Amino acid sequence: MYAAMGVLGLAPTETTAPVPPTGGGPSPAPFVPPQRSDFTLRGGSAAKVLVLGAGVAGLACAYELGKAGYDCTVLEARDRVGGRSMTLRGGDVVSELAEVPGSGAHTSAPVPPLTAGTPSPGARGETQRVTFGEGTYFNAGPARIAQWMVTLDYCRELGVPLEVFVNGNAAAYVLTGGMRAPARVRTARADAYGYISELLAKATDAGALDTRLTGADKERLLDFLSHFGDIGASHAYSGGERRGYRVDPGVGTGAELGPPPPLTDVLSARLGRVLTMDAGYEQAMPMFQPVGGMDAIVRALAARVGAARIRTGTRVTKIMNRPDGVEVTVEGGASLRADYCVAALPPHLLAKIPGNLGADVQSALATPVPLSAGKLGLEYGRRWWEIEDRIYGGATETDLDIGHIWYPSYGFHGERGLVVGYYNTSQDAEAYDRLRHRERLRRALVQGAKIHGRAYAKGILAAVSVAWRRQPHIEGAWVRWPSMSGFSLLQRPAGRVYFAGDWLTHLIAWQAGAFESARKVVTELHHRVLKES
Ligand code: ALA
Repeated sequence: MYAAMGVLGLAPTETTAPVPPTGGGPSPAPFVPPQRSDFTLRGGSAAKVLVLGAGVAGLACAYELGKAGYDCTVLEARDRVGGRSMTLRGGDVVSELAEVPGSGAHTSAPVPPLTAGTPSPGARGETQRVTFGEGTYFNAGPARIAQWMVTLDYCRELGVPLEVFVNGNAAAYVLTGGMRAPARVRTARADAYGYISELLAKATDAGALDTRLTGADKERLLDFLSHFGDIGASHAYSGGERRGYRVDPGVGTGAELGPPPPLTDVLSARLGRVLTMDAGYEQAMPMFQPVGGMDAIVRALAARVGAARIRTGTRVTKIMNRPDGVEVTVEGGASLRADYCVAALPPHLLAKIPGNLGADVQSALATPVPLSAGKLGLEYGRRWWEIEDRIYGGATETDLDIGHIWYPSYGFHGERGLVVGYYNTSQDAEAYDRLRHRERLRRALVQGAKIHGRAYAKGILAAVSVAWRRQPHIEGAWVRWPSMSGFSLLQRPAGRVYFAGDWLTHLIAWQAGAFESARKVVTELHHRVLKES
């Protein structure tokens, strides 16, 4: 009877059982959102919950708990929702902290010699006013979603329309320190695959692989290599149409690029990383983006939660477990009471908030190290990358300090367009972190000109850069766990305080991680409330 009611949605079903707090291993049971009817037979009622942080994890918690009537209040220190899911448009204002937090600790890598721009160690916190034109947007944080990620399920549920995010493009460029000039991805790939196939085919022909391969295996391998590297019956790579054309075919035959460079040049280019960027499970095409900007997701979540439940500009200063609930103090001294709390702030900020969560919890929160990443949005008045370079979306991969250049996957053939002039991480991002915006821009334009020539610096209508380590109330792009000690502990609540965020998953730096963590916490909290009611 009880099970039948569960099926009808009148009672909690087995699948609302808590997910084991291991933080690892295979996926848990499918997520079943809490619903009002879960309380029908059990009695009791949804509890009052304070959610700290209106990033993806916090908003997702409030949204899911809200389905069962939980009384959630979301406290957000920033003046906007979304956390790192920040899409910038004309009229936005981006402020930075005066210093990179903990300068001299995690960010002490020397700034490499500059080709342009100089470091500004004592830079004052800067404020940039975004002056992009109508329709231009810049996803300064998350920008791409893989097909398998739960983020897409939320887009479906929330009615957020999607379009393809072009993550890899054969027409884009690669440039590494081992190359004399940039090459199209297709050309570099043709040469790398071609020569690798030739070497392997010749080694096979010479019998070097006889201990590993049967005669039939050798024949199959050679067949594979003939396609993989386009090496023909001679087993010698000599280029071909995969490298591209100087004059594209049409009514005429066109003119191919010509023969490949010598093998030694292709090996010197060290193309392994730049040619496999989109091979990883998280980066494989097709990828997706919400139409109009990534923040469509957080805005839809916030709308469902309800503006009245979200308090922006409200910084938490203390978190206390009390015998019968939680008490959270905010800047200004006011304190709020609730039955439970979900702390969905970055761990390095949570670690600094006083309270009585316990020394082990406090030390676990202080374990993850915040990392740097930065992005520069360049709005051009003319889409020269489409017109002259025939590049429609995708990325140029480099080992310059700009990391990647991204071409927009939206607004094709429009008048203006938004190129991401750098998206860098690690030491490259740390170097840019320390620069003022003007200097970041100057440096990125010098680097980008190595690929696109002098015209790269021309026709820029507006530019804005974000150094995530210097974003107030965020202070990091994402985190790294130097040791996993503390990871399991924080999967469990500290008294009535739960923790949520991408940093508690194996999907760090993805919105999907924040969603997965939120679902886990919501499931556990709801199960506890049902049990205790
Ligand atoms: N998820 C981040 C990216 O796609 C790290 O670049």
